[in-house]
Amino acid sequence: MRHYSIAVIPGDGIGPEVINESLKVLKTLEELHGGIRFSYEYFDWNCQYYLQNGRMMPKDGLEQLKNHDVILFGAVGDPSVPDHISVWELILPIRKGFQQYVNLRPIRLLRGIDSPLRYKDHDDLDFIVVRENTEGEYSDMGGRLHAGTPFEMAIQNNVITRQGSERILQYAYSLAERRKKKHLTVATKSNAINHTMTFWDEVVNEVRKDYPHIQTQLYHIDALAAYFVMKPESLDVVLGSNLFGDILTDLGAAIVGGLGLAPSGNINPEKQFPSMFEAIHGSAPDIAGKGIANPIAQIWSVSLMMDHLDLPELGKLVLDSIEDVLVEGIVRTPDLGGSCTTKEMGDAIVAQMKKSA
Ligand code: NAI
Ligand code: MG
Repeated sequence: MRHYSIAVIPGDGIGPEVINESLKVLKTLEELHGGIRFSYEYFDWNCQYYLQNGRMMPKDGLEQLKNHDVILFGAVGDPSVPDHISVWELILPIRKGFQQYVNLRPIRLLRGIDSPLRYKDHDDLDFIVVRENTEGEYSDMGGRLHAGTPFEMAIQNNVITRQGSERILQYAYSLAERRKKKHLTVATKSNAINHTMTFWDEVVNEVRKDYPHIQTQLYHIDALAAYFVMKPESLDVVLGSNLFGDILTDLGAAIVGGLGLAPSGNINPEKQFPSMFEAIHGSAPDIAGKGIANPIAQIWSVSLMMDHLDLPELGKLVLDSIEDVLVEGIVRTPDLGGSCTTKEMGDAIVAQMKKSA
């Protein structure tokens, strides 16, 4: 019997709603496999917790999470707490503190879903974005000067390190080696951001020498955004800095059907710390509490979690079952043009898993 302990942080808004469905999927995986056990510890860290305690998580929050194998994360954010607090004090400390330096975001048109780019085929829309997850534009280095005066100003530094760039490149290349096209596209903007992005390009050009069998291309971020729409079939593995990767993946999600379908993993490849799996969407206050959020993004994140735990056959079962339900086309949440609830969508996927296993 293999045992895995999972820290669960449901968060705010639709976070707990889509986490519920993911927990059903995990329970089903346990039943179907027979040789694995998941145990759970729940953490109520969210905006409500902040309003009561003045912080998003306890001081020893990371200590409490550290001994779990993986973290299943919903979404945080509530109109009662400024977004920069909920994000900076909960998600970013976990990503950075646990060296989850890879943010892995598959962009794949699922069977049963029509892309807004309808003339493209399913094979054309199947690539994966690797986003640097610990530094870059999302650095805390900076500050405000002359606050409250007419001279008020703010600076936030973009931090690119050699080590941080090398390790994310090595991860992206190792991923490209395992895929069909053997192709890496790297986002840059060295024509305009002439200190940090030229350094980034230099590191790319050094590391690529170790991977001569992988075709490497550097594209400026603006042109690359256009390629996402105009010729997504040319993409295989795409690497971006923290901000570029963030923006590219919302765009990627849009061309394969929307945020309700887009999963992610925050991965510490060395497994020195727990990795964290979450949908890329937020807490969606506009639909929270209505029971209509699409749980597929979060359930697909469970599939990525299984891959990370070296249970790829379970990861495949989850993803195939999601697609089978979509192809059948009966159970769909409103974002996919249907009228089903979050729970009905989750139940349909669980039923399909049992049928397929
Ligand atoms: P959002 O992703 O929460 O929502 C954007 C739009 O997509 C909304 O119209 C929403 O209804 C829709 N949507 C999102 N997920 C959906 C799902 N599963 N099914 C159906 N429709 C879905 O982004 P927004 O509105 O910019 O941010 C809301 C809050 O979430 C803010 O407080 C923000 O800071 C936070 N946030 C948290 C993230 C996280 O926890 N990792 C990531 C992004 C935002
Ligand atoms: Mg985002």
